[in-house]
Amino acid sequence: MAFMSAQAIIIDCDPGVDDAIALLLAFASPQALEILAVTTVAGNVDAQQTARNARLIRQIAGAEGVPVHAGATRPLVRAPIVASHFHGTSGLGWLEVSEPSAPAAAGHSADAIIAAVMSRPPKTVSIAVMGPMTNLALAMTLEPKLAARLEQVVIMGGARIEGGNITASAEYNVFADPHAASMVYGSGAPCIAIGLDATHQVRTTPQRLAAIKALARPSAKAVATLLEFSIDVQRRLVPGAPPPPLHDPCTIAYLIAPQLFETVSADLQVETESPLTLGHTAVEFRLPDPAAATVRWAVKADANGVFGLLQEALAR
Ligand code: RIB
Ligand code: CA
Repeated sequence: MAFMSAQAIIIDCDPGVDDAIALLLAFASPQALEILAVTTVAGNVDAQQTARNARLIRQIAGAEGVPVHAGATRPLVRAPIVASHFHGTSGLGWLEVSEPSAPAAAGHSADAIIAAVMSRPPKTVSIAVMGPMTNLALAMTLEPKLAARLEQVVIMGGARIEGGNITASAEYNVFADPHAASMVYGSGAPCIAIGLDATHQVRTTPQRLAAIKALARPSAKAVATLLEFSIDVQRRLVPGAPPPPLHDPCTIAYLIAPQLFETVSADLQVETESPLTLGHTAVEFRLPDPAAATVRWAVKADANGVFGLLQEALAR
């Protein structure tokens, strides 16, 4: 796949098994993506571990030139909720974890996002958000011009037809910080929402795992180990379920190859009050003026295309 020039992006994440795969895909795609910074947030595991995990993945990818910033240690309002049952106590499943040699960069994730975006021309920097949206919400609060300056915000967050994965009605990233999600989706920034409706179409089948396991590079070996862990978790926690979905890498796949996804203009509102449906994303396609919509909801994903992209990148 040929590119005119690499897109300047920031990756905001809470690694996390699937965040780690998304990072390895991005680090392996320098022809398509110029990663200005990786910013981490508390989510799947605590903030200290998500920052360490991002640095460790960066080391595996040999990408120590990319700064990793640590960020919010808790959501804006609600109490923190981790997802270590799906990611292991380290947050990286069966991957061997050690202290990475290269340190985190100075500066909070929110400040790093502001600096990276505001120091470049308008509409030239995109951000992939694949954890609780606390850092981006803080950045938008600190710099009110940020939302209008971003080229696009590609978010793994929300659910419509698929229902929830952390509660009956909420997807984890939105549930973990619903106030931040409401701010980001309502900011006016051009948001591409890749929720469970799309990611549940992208599942790690035995054939897709085998294709990754056949690759020799360290990044490919790490992805294979991360995928095997997610398959084991799925078998243990969701008996009889289909193979596990690949959530966060879909945001990177969209940035590299948006044609792999079908999106629809939508009005997206987040429930921030109800104890029963906190974090629910109300995704409305019936719009008085579709052209005025700032959110596009992903309704279809090409699973073979996403895994093909991952395999091609890890083979490079
Ligand atoms: O609902 C899926 C999201 O929650 C992904 O970002 C995954 O990392 C988990 O945190
Ligand atoms: Ca995540």
